[in-house]
Amino acid sequence: MSLTPAPSMETMKEGITFSDVLLVPKRSTIASRKSVDTSGSFSRNIKLKCPIVSANMDTVTEADMAIAMAQAGGLGIIHRFLTIEEEAAQVAKVKRTESVLIEEPYTISPRDTVGAARDFMRSKQVGGLLVVGEGRKLLGVVSERDLQFHDDDSAPVKAVMSSKLVTARPGITLEAAAKVLARHKIEKLPIIDASGTLKGLITAKDIKKKRLHPEASEDPKGRLLVGAAVGVVGDFMERSAALLSAGADVLVVDVAHGHSDHVIEAVARIKKRWPAAELVAGNVATYEGARDLTEAGADGIKVGVGPGSICSTRIVSGAGVPQLTAILDCAKLTAKSGVPVISDGGVRDPGDITKAMAAGASSVMIGSLLAGTEESPGLMIVRGGIKYKLYRGMASLTATLSRRITESGGHHRVDDEEAMEVVAEGVESMVPFRGRAFEVVHQLAGGLRSGMSYSGARTVAELWRKAEFIRITPAAWAESLPRLERKS
Ligand code: XMP
Repeated sequence: MSLTPAPSMETMKEGITFSDVLLVPKRSTIASRKSVDTSGSFSRNIKLKCPIVSANMDTVTEADMAIAMAQAGGLGIIHRFLTIEEEAAQVAKVKRTESVLIEEPYTISPRDTVGAARDFMRSKQVGGLLVVGEGRKLLGVVSERDLQFHDDDSAPVKAVMSSKLVTARPGITLEAAAKVLARHKIEKLPIIDASGTLKGLITAKDIKKKRLHPEASEDPKGRLLVGAAVGVVGDFMERSAALLSAGADVLVVDVAHGHSDHVIEAVARIKKRWPAAELVAGNVATYEGARDLTEAGADGIKVGVGPGSICSTRIVSGAGVPQLTAILDCAKLTAKSGVPVISDGGVRDPGDITKAMAAGASSVMIGSLLAGTEESPGLMIVRGGIKYKLYRGMASLTATLSRRITESGGHHRVDDEEAMEVVAEGVESMVPFRGRAFEVVHQLAGGLRSGMSYSGARTVAELWRKAEFIRITPAAWAESLPRLERKS
């Protein structure tokens, strides 16, 4: 057996993370933090006014979280531990939440029954349906109000629909549509062409939502942006196809060790099949990893091996790179190729977001700080009168086992032996309930604005240029933490 030399101490790098540094305050010309522009990117073509992204985890992001994130100017990535149909339905739900024009409004035939209309409205959670005949010619509208006192469920929709319609032509602006809705005191404005064919629908509800969320992340059609995660084995190509046709704006190839041949091959396959689709890949923690995924076709690189609050990867496997060093390394690629780096995991305090961005990240992915919000799919738990939500690592024991049960369609029974064989690289815990995600994101974004203004930076690009980190000692970190009284 030949002896190979152990890694040399002389060439060994030192890795640092968020609490090892602070940003040195710089002379600033910024009079108000409101004038700081926090815009960042998640991928080459996905720009976010608020560069905060909710993690693709089953206790963090499904449609409700993704909607709240996009309304706040950020982005949510739907997790992949659902059937293909379920994940695609989550994406479709986000895409239908807000739009300038609903291109495919829910419709019903005049020959359908009142009972069918009632069921359809209930299942889609809408207050009205457009009634269309042959060739999608608009004939009327049927609303909850029309059905309210109508007991005969077998009557045709034609008998109850209202056919006095206020309509508009394609191309009407949102402002003009708002005026028509107000003038006629109506909630829905069907859009028809010269021949009376239905082309879409504008609703008062959508206009109100748009006014409420001026910073929202939207696609060119005014629909909220949403991303969706895929794996690299099994049905990942079918899943990608279903997610893209449901309207996903970006796919995220999400694997714990992203710098591996099968991930690189999967990224290349997806990009070859859908060259125009935005594709983010990860996770990596080195420049080489970021470079190889970019060369395979990724439009954004997710960076983070083991920094997450529920991660035990570093403890179990001994592998990982402290997060600030990982970002600094990977972000060299952004400078070269323009591919954004997303810092994923490890944000404990709002200031960590500023540090991640200052180190070169273009956006920051967050799990634990969002897992405690109303919109997360995690279970609510009350202990001693205090509300918590369940938050678990996707490689934790329970997440791994429940995934196997879901994949079997609920038939699989886990026994002790199987549970013992799982080598978990994550843990589960409870996080304090924090209220609405929109408000949490608002607070986090406020911290970023403030941090950028301390560095004298009006934009993220300026932050990258101007930021100066200072290494600090554990005592200096202790000094940084709020404390009610200083002992000695
Ligand atoms: P935070 O710190 O925001 O981190 O809670 C969220 C990120 O953690 C990663 N993640 C895991 N990492 N084992 C790991 O080593 C796991 O079980 C696990 N689950 C999630 C992931 O990158 C997420 O965005």
